Amino acid sequence: MATRTQNRSTTRSASNNRSTNRSSGNCRSKQNERSAFSFGENAGPVLGAALAGMAIGMFANYGRKAIMQGMESAAGDWDEILAAEHDMALAIFDKMLATDETQTFKRKMLLMKLTHALDKHAHQEEMVVYPALREANDRVTADQLEQEHGEVKTFLYELGNMPADSSNWLETVREFRSAVSRHAHMEEEQVFRAFKQGLSEEQNAKITSLVNRDGFWMA
Ligand SMILES: [Fe+2]
Ligand SMILES: [Fe+2]
Repeated sequence: MATRTQNRSTTRSASNNRSTNRSSGNCRSKQNERSAFSFGENAGPVLGAALAGMAIGMFANYGRKAIMQGMESAAGDWDEILAAEHDMALAIFDKMLATDETQTFKRKMLLMKLTHALDKHAHQEEMVVYPALREANDRVTADQLEQEHGEVKTFLYELGNMPADSSNWLETVREFRSAVSRHAHMEEEQVFRAFKQGLSEEQNAKITSLVNRDGFWMA
């Protein structure tokens, strides 16, 4: 105990010596002691505030994700969550179809919203549901559905590169909507329904939890 106290006081006195050397200014000027990455004397509070801001931002984002995904997981099983997302995407399409060529800002905002919704949805299916389908020996269906997601991305690419007041904007959105609607219908009415019937309660719960987890990070 005595030795430890002694060690501590020795360290303190060494540190005192260091600060004496600094204040005497006999070796290097204060400026030279700073590295190229130092931020100046007043940077402390600024950096602190920036870090606190980042932390708040991260928690706010985490909270937002939790709310988004919490709302979805309240929808029920994985197939119900995905069906609710289909409805959400189709509702965005309907809002897009209700615009005219003067509403370019609204069209761009809705396209961004649709892109995010479809991206998150496709990720959940491609990372969880389709691999589970392949595991259950339905590779052909899983591959076909995944290929159709490629067509969805192509529509998004086309619309993203088309002026929002273009004369064929609405026609493209209409075509896009019916492709998504067909795809969603096939998933809900045929593929997911048949797949779910063959799952045990445990397997079903596992897929629901994986879809929720994937959706959380993509939200
Ligand atoms: Fe899909
Ligand atoms: Fe889907």
